[in-house]
Amino acid sequence: MKFFIDTANLDEIREANDLGILDGVTTNPTLISREGVKGKDAIFQHYRKICEIVDGPVSAEVISTDFEGMIREARELAKIHENIVVKIPIIKDGVKAIRALSQEGIRTNCTLVFSPGQAILAAKAGATFVSPFIGRLDDIASDGIDLVRKIVEIYNYYGFPTEVLAASIRSTQHIIQAAEAGADIVTAPLKAILGLLRHPLTDIGLQKFLEDYKKTQE
Ligand code: E4P
Repeated sequence: MKFFIDTANLDEIREANDLGILDGVTTNPTLISREGVKGKDAIFQHYRKICEIVDGPVSAEVISTDFEGMIREARELAKIHENIVVKIPIIKDGVKAIRALSQEGIRTNCTLVFSPGQAILAAKAGATFVSPFIGRLDDIASDGIDLVRKIVEIYNYYGFPTEVLAASIRSTQHIIQAAEAGADIVTAPLKAILGLLRHPLTDIGLQKFLEDYKKTQE
């Protein structure tokens, strides 16, 4: 199972990377705008900085919605750094773009996936990653984890090589549920990743061990 961090914040990316368990990064236009990065050059520079921190796939999203625009943007993004994976939305022109980019050898992350049907199209088109959005489905009283489970089952059944990247993770519990559902990758905010460390019995146990050790030094 691989761990990606879902942020464009350089400090958080460094902190997760320093843990030694980080395999990649996902960003989107919302996360980039949250960092106050403005203009194409600054955004590309920001992606470059992320790629220099993390030795793994870094998703950068296109903002075009037509085939030609997506291909143009994808080629520019892919030139920034070899770690860049181009994020393409699951719309009609997006499917065509994923197919063309996969034939060019440009890796893609098919984003905004909310149904098994969309995930099948992404895999058929040759997406490197597919991103089912768990939290946003939960937000509308649907079952995000169930979608991950269904996509994993379908991909396994047909041997699709597209990796299932559970996205829109809102909590530590989501990470565990996505792992149980068989997701290849989970992309999560730093807070949810660090939450995996927490258990009160660990804190109590460690405190007791340290106190007892002190007795051996008196
Ligand atoms: C990552 O690829 C997605 O863009 C991200 O996880 C969306 O998360 P959100 O639903 O919390 O905005």
